[in-house]
Amino acid sequence: MTDDVLVVHGGTPLQGRIRVRGAKNLVSKAMVAALLGDSPSRLFDVPKIRDVEVVRGLLGLHGVKVTDGDEDGELVFDPANVESASTDQINVHAGSSRIPILFCGPLLHRLGHAFIPDLGGCHIGPRPIDFHLQALREFGATVDKTPEGLHLSAPNGLHGTKFALPYPSVGATEQVLLTAVMAEGVTELRNAAVEPEIIDLICILQKMGAIIKVHTDRVIEIQGVPKLHGYTHRPIPDRIEAASWAAAALATRGHVEVLGAEQADMMTFLNVFRSVGGEYEVTDTRPPRPGQPGQEGGIRFWHPGGELQATALETDVHPGFMTDWQQPLVVALTQARGLSIVHETVYEQRLGYTEALNTMGANIQVYRDCLGGTPCRFGRRNFKHSAVIAGPSKLHAADLVIPDLRAGFSHLIAALAAEGTSRVYGVDLINRGYEDFEAKLADLGAHVERP
Ligand code: EPZ
Repeated sequence: MTDDVLVVHGGTPLQGRIRVRGAKNLVSKAMVAALLGDSPSRLFDVPKIRDVEVVRGLLGLHGVKVTDGDEDGELVFDPANVESASTDQINVHAGSSRIPILFCGPLLHRLGHAFIPDLGGCHIGPRPIDFHLQALREFGATVDKTPEGLHLSAPNGLHGTKFALPYPSVGATEQVLLTAVMAEGVTELRNAAVEPEIIDLICILQKMGAIIKVHTDRVIEIQGVPKLHGYTHRPIPDRIEAASWAAAALATRGHVEVLGAEQADMMTFLNVFRSVGGEYEVTDTRPPRPGQPGQEGGIRFWHPGGELQATALETDVHPGFMTDWQQPLVVALTQARGLSIVHETVYEQRLGYTEALNTMGANIQVYRDCLGGTPCRFGRRNFKHSAVIAGPSKLHAADLVIPDLRAGFSHLIAALAAEGTSRVYGVDLINRGYEDFEAKLADLGAHVERP
């Protein structure tokens, strides 16, 4: 465990500039989509994070040749020889990520059968896959749950269907898209998720030859086609990582420019950031001109001095406030004057990390009630999914153990904002979703070290 600890000497504002690359929650799905093509695909700006490695490994096991392209962060996928892998080989990746569930449709199309290992991902609620399996069955797949994992087959092929999701799940919407694009006939998905990462996945599938219409009111219609080809794509930037650094700038009273951050995908975050007293400026990308180099744009985030103000926010599906923005921002809210209220409506157990903040001096109470008006599935089910944060609180150093990815980053921010030296255990988990975070911390002037 000792080599998985970061010593953080807190109290120094983060200052400087970092860059975000392709969104973790798009890139991994784009990699799976490459399985559907009958020619190579090319994906740019792929961050070096653990989830990408897991998907790369799984693609490799299924015969997809994955190579590094010429550009830093470019990956090339050659699906010419897609083949079955043994359950033992696939099970090496058991428990490492949630992405394997999205291999179902593409593998059923390419091979007629699929084996999916036990899923991993963050422990932020039960995270069932019932919507995924229900959708796959609607397409005509048979699903056999065994102790070693899921065995799927499609003896009569996959056929378009009309299906409504009980909740606009990101993963289940992606499951339907990746399956419907090559299913026979038309699929109509109602109550679909429409996160920017999903729209970007639709763009990729469209580049591959798919026919997908995004209607109003969360309805997506997909006309199946018999054949798709490879794509070339530069993904949308990681808006979760961008917001995480923004929250770190605010909590440490610093100033961070996030190159690559995209305003349109972060509008809801930017509104909240401003309402608590943070400042930001969108910097445009300038193409090179004769005699003048170009400049990459992004968003500069800073604490303008003085006090931050409390706010009330509810996490929600897009275009609401992302659940993944919640934990990093709450650290900054511990520094705001008054009572802030957070109603988490996407995951039932995503507030556990606040206990660690309380040991550092924060004053956060969690409640089972819905403290907000957004319809929520958890109020009657006894989950502590609302929080009241009384601030400002002076944070002091502590020994912290990282519970999951986003909460982990919030622990890190808290340690950076606190006076004194904290030890943050389990930091390796942060590499699942934040590329080179230690190098970025160094670029921002953080005093951190490996013991
Ligand atoms: C994606 O998870 C992201 N992960 C999550 O980011 C993100 O928090 C989430 O979407 C919401 O935006 C990836 O893209 C890899 P969901 P996903 O299906 O697709 C319930 C991060 O830190 N549900 O939209 O798994 C579920 O329990 C991660 O980067 C069912 O009940 O999320 C949850 O309450 C964490 N049955 C809600 O829906 C199902 O079959 C939303 O989950 C599927 C989901």
